[in-house]
Amino acid sequence: MINFFNNTFYLNTSNSSYIIYILSDGILVHKYYGKRIKEQNMDYYNLYKAYDYTAVYFADGEITTMDALPLEFPTMGRGDYRTPAIVVEGKSGKQVNDFRYSFHRVFEGTATVPGLPNLDCNTENVQTLEIILKDRVTNAEAHLFYSVFEDIDIIARNTVIINKSENNIKISKILSATVDFEHSDFDMISLYGRWGNERSVERIPLRHGQNVISSCRGASGHHSTPFLALAEKEANENYGDVYGIALIYSGDFELGVDVGQFDNVRLFAGLNHETFSWELEPKESFVSPQTVLTYSDMGIGKMSRNFHKMCRQHLGEFSKKPTRPVVLNLWEAFYFDISEEKVLETVKNVSKLGVDTIVIDDGWFGKRKNELVSMGDWYINVERFPNGFHRVIDECERCGLKLGLWFEPEMIGKDSDFIKEHPDWCIKLNEIEPIVSRGEYVLDFCREEITDFVFEKLSSILSKYNISYIKWDMNRNITDMGSSSLTDNHQLEFSHRYMLGLYSLINKIKTAFPNLYIECSAGGGGRFDFGMLYYMPQIWCSDNSDAIERIDIQYGTSLVYPPESISSHVSAIPNHQTNRVTSFYTRGNVAQLFALGYELNPNIINDSAKASIFQQISKHREIESWIFEGDFYRLTDFDNKNYCAWQIVSKDKSKSVAIYVVKLTKAKRIGNYFRLKGLQSDKNYKIEQLGISLSGNAIMYAGFPIKNQLDDFESLFFELNME
Ligand code: GLA
Repeated sequence: MINFFNNTFYLNTSNSSYIIYILSDGILVHKYYGKRIKEQNMDYYNLYKAYDYTAVYFADGEITTMDALPLEFPTMGRGDYRTPAIVVEGKSGKQVNDFRYSFHRVFEGTATVPGLPNLDCNTENVQTLEIILKDRVTNAEAHLFYSVFEDIDIIARNTVIINKSENNIKISKILSATVDFEHSDFDMISLYGRWGNERSVERIPLRHGQNVISSCRGASGHHSTPFLALAEKEANENYGDVYGIALIYSGDFELGVDVGQFDNVRLFAGLNHETFSWELEPKESFVSPQTVLTYSDMGIGKMSRNFHKMCRQHLGEFSKKPTRPVVLNLWEAFYFDISEEKVLETVKNVSKLGVDTIVIDDGWFGKRKNELVSMGDWYINVERFPNGFHRVIDECERCGLKLGLWFEPEMIGKDSDFIKEHPDWCIKLNEIEPIVSRGEYVLDFCREEITDFVFEKLSSILSKYNISYIKWDMNRNITDMGSSSLTDNHQLEFSHRYMLGLYSLINKIKTAFPNLYIECSAGGGGRFDFGMLYYMPQIWCSDNSDAIERIDIQYGTSLVYPPESISSHVSAIPNHQTNRVTSFYTRGNVAQLFALGYELNPNIINDSAKASIFQQISKHREIESWIFEGDFYRLTDFDNKNYCAWQIVSKDKSKSVAIYVVKLTKAKRIGNYFRLKGLQSDKNYKIEQLGISLSGNAIMYAGFPIKNQLDDFESLFFELNME
């Protein structure tokens, strides 16, 4: 898997090769990343030609310039004018570094990334290469880790910097990975959005200079997702070379592609350097978040499936395959107007429909009657719940249901009792009033006494009541960054320290309540990333619950994250965000291949809607064990305005389900054929809804007939079983 000869490292997965070379002076160059190639002497692959008025550098005796070299660990100030992977300042205060190879080792298993979520080693076939470099300027040591997950074509990377000098050093930038390519014939694919419209797919040609996506919001954010892909121009869902890169991190980040003067490309990912700096005393070290790379020779679809497999096999809680509850979340049912009486009536009305967890959303605590008051007062409002949660839980248990509860642990209300007790616990600048958003300030999670206090508050409820599920929300972005626990020259450590504090709190809660299932939310899907999925196996994808708008949101999200991570709720009509009316069938179909749930008031729906809920959940329970291990296919391109189709094929290819949803219909008078993917060509499959059997290759290449003319928002659901 990892081999070393002729000063060359070969990192091989089943379908990809990643090759690094050590020049005679110790500079690391990147030779190749792409489809797996035979290990051979790569001396012929010599990319050191260009020298055009930039600083001269001799690579193995050949004249060139750093700016042209494909560098594995690029730095500033020595002739490479592109994005550096690291900037460390030593005693001199200069931002010049010159890291050279010192030694390396290869070990079985993965690298550990203390304090941060990272891939686990749950299977064999994982090896790690650690390359140690020394900076001739500052004496800092850089440890570059490459964990190679052979079976799933994933390479996880991160960097540890150790201060080996006698004085303090300051890291003002550290990326987790850069990958250089010698050409720029790529498009860049990323996900952008806002509240109610998260993770839309954007595909753009590269321009010279930096093409960057980033967040400085203290969360990965609605606006951007810590992921991007480089796709060769001709690549689409099913064909062509695509490279995906994503961070296992939930805070401020930057990812980008830098196109250099020689049309060479540098892909990069790491902490956002604008909100970061870190001082290290002698012997101290800093660990960068882990980033994951994957290569697909079969388009964007395979890139997604590689990431999905990675989560299922190696990503913390996610890989433990928790039983996923089908929840009825009560936010859109009652908003803040929640009470014991309403929950009891709800329990009565859903007890026979197959729902297994009822989630009491915002409004159950303190004096909470709208979003402006009482945040953080984590005691039950006894006017609304005179018996605490005892009666509700008793009734749930009597009916075979479980109870879930909403929290927003990171925030503190402007008028809350909490802030009266601890006025100095929110994030603020010294003289300036902090920004209030949704009536809230942000708690300073850099301070352990604060995360401990929040832990106690949450634990007191979770240990008193049998709560199986929490929805962990974060409803505002961070402003006024800084902590009273940090001295002036450490203030830029705030953003990352906040994340370390948050991760340690979640960890503590998971350790104290190991069976607790946590769903992540952030004003809908404002913190959807591998960092959160490590702890919370499901994420509320968007506050926009309209089935038709959800198609695009779930489409974009599925580029990186597995379908079972994407909470998809069937909601009421007219939809609360768009006023659109769609059938119960379509709303169910849009949610069925994801983490199915409900977001409506069952006390006011009719019997036919209740029967639909029962049918949808029964079907979901029947297929979930294999769909959430299967291969997910997007059968339409992201910019298809008229319809969207998804399919999942079981691991053994014996079963498949496919969904076809019309967004905006088109007049069509001739036959309509639906073509699927991933089946076994020479086997016959029965298409249950049509009662016909066809061979796998007929279904994949000729297609099977569907209705000629479908209406706006109409949908179809097909199940296939191998005969
Ligand atoms: C966020 C969530 C919603 C709901 C509200 C409650 O916006 O995304 O689902 O929980 O908070 O305030």
